[in-house]
Amino acid sequence: MSATRSLLIDGIGELVTADAEGTVHYDAAMVVEDGRIAWIGHRLNRPAADDRLDLGDRAVVPGFVDSHAHLVFAGDRAGEFDARMSGEPYDGGGIRTTVEATRRAADERLRENCARLTAEMLRQGTTTVEIKSGYGLTVEDEARSLRIAREFTAETTYLGAHTVPAGADPDAYTALAAGPMLDACAPHARWADVFCERGAFDADQARTVLTAAAKAGLGLRVHANQLTAGPGARLAVELGAASADHCTHLTDADVDALANSSTVATLLPGAEFSTRSPYPDARRLIDAGATVALATDCNPGSSYTSSMAFCIALAVREMRMTPYEALEAATAGGADALRRTDIGRLVVGARADLAVLDAPSFVHLAYRPGTPLIATVIRGGGVVH
Ligand code: NIG
Ligand code: FE
Repeated sequence: MSATRSLLIDGIGELVTADAEGTVHYDAAMVVEDGRIAWIGHRLNRPAADDRLDLGDRAVVPGFVDSHAHLVFAGDRAGEFDARMSGEPYDGGGIRTTVEATRRAADERLRENCARLTAEMLRQGTTTVEIKSGYGLTVEDEARSLRIAREFTAETTYLGAHTVPAGADPDAYTALAAGPMLDACAPHARWADVFCERGAFDADQARTVLTAAAKAGLGLRVHANQLTAGPGARLAVELGAASADHCTHLTDADVDALANSSTVATLLPGAEFSTRSPYPDARRLIDAGATVALATDCNPGSSYTSSMAFCIALAVREMRMTPYEALEAATAGGADALRRTDIGRLVVGARADLAVLDAPSFVHLAYRPGTPLIATVIRGGGVVH
């Protein structure tokens, strides 16, 4: 019989809980038992515990919840980025380049790529990541992408409807994605997503795939309104999706629909940065009452960053978010986008997933952009970095 040891995390200068009240504790301590938070309070009231970790007055935030990433791929598209920075537009067409490289790659190479990127994320404070398929686009390649993604996270997303593969008929491909491909992928996925955009899937095609996925028991997410003010965000709301992602081009009706729904607006400023596009207006969404999340969209085409801190800095500087709003969107917002209540907030009963900053305050995440501020990462109560 092995008794689990309790851990006292002491010397927390600033503890940002991201709870519903926005509570921030100063001179705090925390007790962790069985990987969960058992107590939070002022350090003078700290209870006894088996083990003790002193953080030396550093700031602590919830581990980041990166609710949107495409990590199962091979190769990169640095040349495409270079051309874009010389004036070429981004239209999503490069997805097919990565599809070709991914199909050619052995399982082990795809696994190594996921391992490399998830390790990079963990070192930067991300304790939960969602991983999508979408660079296979055949029944076999989508299913193997999800099997590999599943080795790294429980938050796996079937994105067979990422783009219509070269040479395929759009309606025939939609039927495949809503039929046999979905059947092969659903056992390995928690979510389904569709790129609803001009040049990818229109509203009817997206609805076909998403309603079939819901029937197969998957939760829904939508790549919505990234390049144009299309129907994606309203479709996400109509279908009760957990999240509408990108939300760069929104009409007033889209903002209203999101604000009056449980669909989270997930903003991905790394994509606007890397495609040199105008940023989404987070202020407009927040002021209307929508729940906003921030995520990296880590992928080799439109946003090859694994850094949630970078996204926070962009959101504050470019999207009219306050440092606190951005931190909350990167933690509690991401948890909401994944419909998780056990992560993203440092409250009693939640998983002890936290990032310790080499800084006295969370504000430094936006205030010191590009600076490696993550001193220690704790997941499930264990020090993992
Ligand atoms: O979220 N927009 C669609 N999918 C990705 C980009 C994928 C790629 O360019 O390879 C995105 O930006
Ligand atoms: Fe994406």
